[in-house]
Amino acid sequence: MESIEKTIDESKQGEVLVLESNPNKNSKKLYLESYGCAMNFSDSEVVASILEKNGYSTTRNIDESDLILLNTCSIRDKAEQTVRKRLTTFKKMKKAKPGLMVGVLGCMAERLKNALLEEEKLVDLVVGPDAYRDLPNLLHKTEGGQKSVNVLLSREETYADISPVRLDQTGVTAFISITRGCDNMCSFCVVPFTRGRERSRNPLTIVAEARDLFDRGYREVTLLGQNVDSYRWNMSSKGEVKDPNIPTTNFAQLMEMVGQVNPKLRVRFSTSHPKDMGDDVLEVIAKYENICDYIHLPVQSGNSEVLKKMNRGYTREWYLNRIEAIKRILPEATISTDIITGFCGETEEQHQDTLSLMEEVKFSAAYMYKYSERPKTLAERKYEDNVPEEVKQRRLTEVIEVQHKHQLEYFKGEIGKTYEVLVERVSKKSEDEFMGRNSQSSSCIFPKGNYKIGDYVNVKIIDCTKATLIAEIVEEVRS
Ligand code: 5AD
Ligand code: SF4
Repeated sequence: MESIEKTIDESKQGEVLVLESNPNKNSKKLYLESYGCAMNFSDSEVVASILEKNGYSTTRNIDESDLILLNTCSIRDKAEQTVRKRLTTFKKMKKAKPGLMVGVLGCMAERLKNALLEEEKLVDLVVGPDAYRDLPNLLHKTEGGQKSVNVLLSREETYADISPVRLDQTGVTAFISITRGCDNMCSFCVVPFTRGRERSRNPLTIVAEARDLFDRGYREVTLLGQNVDSYRWNMSSKGEVKDPNIPTTNFAQLMEMVGQVNPKLRVRFSTSHPKDMGDDVLEVIAKYENICDYIHLPVQSGNSEVLKKMNRGYTREWYLNRIEAIKRILPEATISTDIITGFCGETEEQHQDTLSLMEEVKFSAAYMYKYSERPKTLAERKYEDNVPEEVKQRRLTEVIEVQHKHQLEYFKGEIGKTYEVLVERVSKKSEDEFMGRNSQSSSCIFPKGNYKIGDYVNVKIIDCTKATLIAEIVEEVRS
């Protein structure tokens, strides 16, 4: 999927998150690692919930586990290689501990089921992103000594009724999936093949989940989807009403519904798509203080011809028009993006267009990648992956350098400003400091004072590093 919030995002692609809920002494132990995007992380919480009802509790200690599950990512080749290496390690563990089961979940499941189960004999269980309800049944089979697999994709599954076990330890921020799958068919992207057709989740279950999280002390929710702007409930893709007795809901309306849950519940969303993001969404963000002034709007390339080959559905001019709309309607908002360098046939001039677009927009953050050809995609079938590796790398380095320059300029411009931040966790560098983000999603580090995790704090930016804003407490606003 498209890149996600900074807290757990595509920049961590391939980075592992070991997940743990409340351990229960009497249950079997599940060790769950999640790779890739926030959608995978969110799915892992659904998996933990399904398995908790079937006698498993999660553990961070792999040595005590009875079942190891890897929620995998296929977006770039590197992500797949990381998982394969990990599976080889687990294979050795299985030898030492008979009865230990290993399963692969998520995006690699469909693509690699035969290789993983048979050729390489690395796993006992392969389960695709729409088949998690079948996990208890599949595990039962595996316990009986059979290898089991279900990689069927669904047109309906949204896990709407499953209340995810929250695996994030802070208890302040949470993800809520609002759509699954993707119908966009960007030519470089494997997601439509691994996660299937796009479908939206019942808005009432989304609002109920947000309300429940707030009641349990959470103060921020991020609405997740591959393309949140195409969220629609009770409407066909052509906009026709399906059931006249039920109200229709689009993304702007859904955000308004979630925004109204409580003014102290922050709302974020990811990922927006430039071709679908309308002014109505921006106007809702402007109307609600608790809907955050931060938009992740992947551009991928600054050249219209490349964008056409990427099948992105917009031109450079269209993208810049959307940026203009954001700056007009939400003057305080920050904008981040995703960029791919060295896509099939990309010329030096076309690469320069990406750099010049970056100069025009000045993104506050960016997730930048070299093109990695993925099997089955339109690009793999239609275009030659003909930009040499060293050119891809050099262009990526240039893009990263420009981004770092802009980021530093942006940070320096923030010095002296005051923001309300939500305290998310203790700083990684110092026990005496907190990390909190402002509405614009910039991380601020500041002394703890008398505050606690989950509080809203007013801070003044006094300095910056390359990656964060340094702040001091001004006064308490609300808690
Ligand atoms: N190669 C490189 N980057 C890719 N992305 C998606 N597919 C590929 C690929 N084949 C990037 C896009 C997308 C982000 C999540 O990952 O920039 O927005
Ligand atoms: Fe995002 Fe395009 Fe991939 Fe869909 S096909 S997940 S919109 S990059």
